[in-house]
Amino acid sequence: MSEVRITFVDCRGTEKVIEDAPVGDTMMQIATANGVDGILGECGGGCACGTCHIYIDPEWQHVVGAPDDVEDMTLDMVFETRKPNSRLCCQITVSEKMDGLRVVVAPESL
Ligand code: FES
Repeated sequence: MSEVRITFVDCRGTEKVIEDAPVGDTMMQIATANGVDGILGECGGGCACGTCHIYIDPEWQHVVGAPDDVEDMTLDMVFETRKPNSRLCCQITVSEKMDGLRVVVAPESL
């Protein structure tokens, strides 16, 4: 399997199902390539801007994992909307285990 199914739910509750998300790309690359509202990726994936903020469904957190220290610091920039299940999607590389993953796009806070 080199492609997986990922669902983004944008700020208005609209679901965008991406059936052919390439394994090995980041979630941010996939979101921007598919025009997911609310994912800007302004720093190009450098973990510096906080404009790719998403919430991971609790059922998927053990698969996706937790942010590292650098991501944790960048998430502090979006403290107004940060939750325990926040991640920056430029720091999530899609794997085959993520087939069926569903995430919610955080409201912009920057
Ligand atoms: S794209 Fe800038 S932090 Fe993710």
